[in-house]
Amino acid sequence: MTEPAYRVHICHGPNCTPRGGAKALIEALEAEVRRLGIEDRVEILATSCRNRCELGPSVNVYPGPVCYGHVTLTAITQIAREHLRDGVPVIEYIVADEPRPIIDFSKLDKLF
Ligand code: FES
Repeated sequence: MTEPAYRVHICHGPNCTPRGGAKALIEALEAEVRRLGIEDRVEILATSCRNRCELGPSVNVYPGPVCYGHVTLTAITQIAREHLRDGVPVIEYIVADEPRPIIDFSKLDKLF
């Protein structure tokens, strides 16, 4: 089996999920990836919170990561076509270049 060209992490956290994230986005992305015939190039994973709740539903695409925010059903099909099929990230939904750490290590010394 070959490595997928892209890994898509769709946040399944407690803040993104009620905003239309996770299940509906995963189903829409899986359907669009199948329709485009690129299912062997794309791996889709539900993830936990990535500390971008205010930007949710959030989706990261690797390599990159390219971090997308406020992802709608329309946006996820556009990301499938333009980013995952054509290799061009969809600039209008990109919210950051780097993922944020879940743990803020700079505050750890205040805990102990
Ligand atoms: S619940 Fe999705 S980033 Fe926090």
